[in-house]
Amino acid sequence: MCGIFGIVTRSERPLGEILLEAGRRLSYRGYDSVGCATLNSDGIIDLRKDVGKIDEVGKRLNFSQMRGNRGIVQLRWATFGAPSQQNAQPHLDSDGDLVGAHNGNVVNNVELREQFIAEGMTVRSSNDGESCVHAVERYLDREHDMLSAVRCAYQDLEGDYAFVIGSLGDGHLYAVKKGSGLAVGLGDDFSCVSSDLPSILPLTRRILRVYDGEIVILNAGGAEIRRVEDGSLIERHAETITESMEAVQKGGYAHFMLKEIHEQAVVSGELLHWLEGAQALAPILERIQKARHLYLIGCGTSYHACLSGAVYLGNLARRAAIPVLAPQFIAQYAPALSPRDVGIFVSQSGETKDVLNAIEAAHRSGMNIYGLVNVIGSTLTQASERWLPLVCGYEISVPATKTFTNQVITFLYLAYRLANRSTQPLFDLPRLIQQTIQYSDGQVEQLAVELAQCNDLYCLGYGMTYPIALEGALKLKEITYAHCEGMLSTEFKHGPLAAVTEGYPVIFVATQRDIPLLVSGINEVTCRGGKAIAIGPQDSRLRANAHQLLTLPPCDDALSALLAVLPLQLLSYHLSVQRGFDPDFPRNLSKTLTVD
Ligand code: M6R
Repeated sequence: MCGIFGIVTRSERPLGEILLEAGRRLSYRGYDSVGCATLNSDGIIDLRKDVGKIDEVGKRLNFSQMRGNRGIVQLRWATFGAPSQQNAQPHLDSDGDLVGAHNGNVVNNVELREQFIAEGMTVRSSNDGESCVHAVERYLDREHDMLSAVRCAYQDLEGDYAFVIGSLGDGHLYAVKKGSGLAVGLGDDFSCVSSDLPSILPLTRRILRVYDGEIVILNAGGAEIRRVEDGSLIERHAETITESMEAVQKGGYAHFMLKEIHEQAVVSGELLHWLEGAQALAPILERIQKARHLYLIGCGTSYHACLSGAVYLGNLARRAAIPVLAPQFIAQYAPALSPRDVGIFVSQSGETKDVLNAIEAAHRSGMNIYGLVNVIGSTLTQASERWLPLVCGYEISVPATKTFTNQVITFLYLAYRLANRSTQPLFDLPRLIQQTIQYSDGQVEQLAVELAQCNDLYCLGYGMTYPIALEGALKLKEITYAHCEGMLSTEFKHGPLAAVTEGYPVIFVATQRDIPLLVSGINEVTCRGGKAIAIGPQDSRLRANAHQLLTLPPCDDALSALLAVLPLQLLSYHLSVQRGFDPDFPRNLSKTLTVD
């Protein structure tokens, strides 16, 4: 949901390439528009920005030639103000001697804009990021110094955001955090700040974490963190990040999504090994066991993992769980929560605003808050009492793939442990995942050619495959822009069957135990001319009744259900490419949704 990066270096240098590379590594957060600003010692701010993706805009506006000793790059995902050159960030203040950019949302920006205009400032856009710059300008005009002006601006700007700003009047960059991610990188002759680590780690591994209500003052020789409240200095030691950066390279694959699909065999194995040795698990399991109500909470793909979790916990461990979308958790359950309840909050990014709002509601009830999260250090890890990592490394592509698989595996593992079953069969998953990808990729690629012109599809599942069908449908609509609805297979005859005409594609996802039921559903479609595509075990009934069968390797139903997501991920990927889209960066979307 927008990405910012700012850097201060000891001497003036070509900063354009550094900003370009940092921007590329943040582009999963927003790609409607992009802008770069450099501040140089001659007292000039060079600001270049426009609508489009970073490589195209960067080339057109020659970002690589920009020089300075301070620089800012911003990647935009539009919320306030349509994608346009004027609404692109960074923004200047009225006189053009202050430049800044934000990520997140300043929710009172409309009122603020009116105030700024009334106070005689020049407002050029309808984007809320510009409010951050004028909010600082307002206090500089009242003779505050930069630190004090930024602190006062923070009080005026409502919402969840982070911003970075620099003035020609001094040699620093200032950044604040209020509800949106922010981290600082420390080098020998520079310091930098960013919404996320992938843009920092190629430059330095020394990282300072920043928390809400803090201001960072960046210098070439280091960074100072102060409290917004009273300006006092905070002592914080840098940590060294050892994580591999391979994840942020495509590694020979055409897209990050394809690479991340293929990584699932490896990351599932790493997760299982982590879980097997995790001390943190025992108290969580004990508490889950005793909970009055167990809620599984997430959004989008993470919510589908919650659905899978509830099916596994119910089926295997006889532990009832309530899977619920984060905003609905507040609307439906907040008044009924009690300290005897447990909530597992599931999120790849750990920054999804809908999820963080749900955590706030949960906090008020006194219930236990556990996290299942990929990004370590994210707000979710800070807001939960205990959390389990997904051990996936960076997931760059906007469509979630490997994190979904590891979320589901975690729930499966918890269910096995609660059921006192041996977890050994789960250790077969990496091999089964590898095999499924190998078997299905070619077949699916061919199917994508056949389906390339289809603008309507259904994806149906039952029991353990119901959440998988929903996830497959989400993936398909997210990156192919076709309408694809996921549904419980038995519901199809209650209405949607009416849409079926000659050649209408309906995908059925089956486990062994549900084949008879699915076969009925398949025939209801095929006898009306529809095209039935089945994903399931090698089974003569599926093969005889469906037009096409994508087979899964023989294994237990619980594992087989999970494997079924792989052909669906691959189908979405190939279909997206067939239809001429970029699966990594679907239009209108962003990887991290830090707004309501
Ligand atoms: O970071 P989160 O897991 O909290 O994100 C939740 C959803 O925004 C996310 O899963 C989204 O649905 C994916 N892009 C789907 O592929």
